[in-house]
Amino acid sequence: MSKRAIVTGGAGFIGSHVADALLAEGHEVHVIDDLSSGAAERVPPRAELVELDIVEERSLRELFDRVAPQAVYHLAAQASVVASVQDPGRDCDVNVRGTLNVLEAAGAHGAPVVFTSTGGALYGDEAPRPTPEDRIPAPLSPYGASKWAAESYVRTWALSAGVPHTVARLGNVYGPRQSPHGEAGVVAIFTGHINEGKQPKLYGHGKPTRDYIYVADVVEALLAASGTAGVYNIATGVETDVMAIWRGLLETAGVEIEPELADLRPGELQHSCLDISRARAELGWSPKVAIEAGLAITYRALTEEFSAA
Ligand SMILES: NC(=O)c1ccc[n+]([C@@H]2O[C@H](COP(=O)([O-])OP(=O)(O)OC[C@H]3O[C@@H](n4cnc5c(N)ncnc54)[C@H](O)[C@@H]3O)[C@@H](O)[C@H]2O)c1
Repeated sequence: MSKRAIVTGGAGFIGSHVADALLAEGHEVHVIDDLSSGAAERVPPRAELVELDIVEERSLRELFDRVAPQAVYHLAAQASVVASVQDPGRDCDVNVRGTLNVLEAAGAHGAPVVFTSTGGALYGDEAPRPTPEDRIPAPLSPYGASKWAAESYVRTWALSAGVPHTVARLGNVYGPRQSPHGEAGVVAIFTGHINEGKQPKLYGHGKPTRDYIYVADVVEALLAASGTAGVYNIATGVETDVMAIWRGLLETAGVEIEPELADLRPGELQHSCLDISRARAELGWSPKVAIEAGLAITYRALTEEFSAA
């Protein structure tokens, strides 16, 4: 059945793929984005784009009342760890207050919210790997802290409003449309380096590991999670080190560039890998794209995007 859906952050990397998938399933899509890191060109033409800051409670409520959504995908966020350290107040405003505003506006229409939290910035280095959802979070940054606080509102509002809101803790997402200008999207950053023949700096001597997940797998999980009222790690359960990411991209590009090796930066996590058995069992979801295939698709797509820009 066709639904009216709101996607906050739908002009961003992951949100624009969510908007595409919802349209492909026949739903009506309204995107809310302040374009602070997103781009209007990423929003599919068949979706409505409303330029709005989710911190602006009144305007947000008016929009929700006009659309009367039946499903909400809340991806808008201050998503940079570095920016969260530089300006923790704004990080808190957007990620905590903004999320509360979305929950209030959605609750007025009984619409379930899927909130994208972080697996990578939540559990810390002491956690067992792969890390299950019931591990008590120990965030290292204001970004991790604000996402955890927002999660708490999501769960509390689900209980008090009786609406099945969901938390999706994402691994390190990569894929087409990822920006090479952030500090975390190594696949996009490295693709940019290879395109320009530039040597990259591999912190931690290329040894830090992350749980990389292809964006289409994330989108599938978010759509499956809508209305389920759970907390789910959405990743692959597979650890890959940064050197392997670099090597995999070089192989697709068919070139050879020696990276510069450097020490890990302060506050950076050594290892991260998420246990996805709950999402497998309860959502009937599992990731389909292996890292080698995902890197090759992403390298080719981003190379085309960068040359067209
Ligand atoms: N990319 C990853 O690896 C990853 C990992 C874990 C969690 N997440 C979460 O997934 C979500 C999407 O991340 P992304 O990688 O697509 O980032 P992104 O920066 O591409 O997308 C975020 C979008 O939110 C918009 N936005 C920011 N502040 C806003 C505000 N105040 N009001 C309205 N819109 C605002 C931005 O303009 C942008 O379009 C975020 O919540 C992020 O924290 C991403």
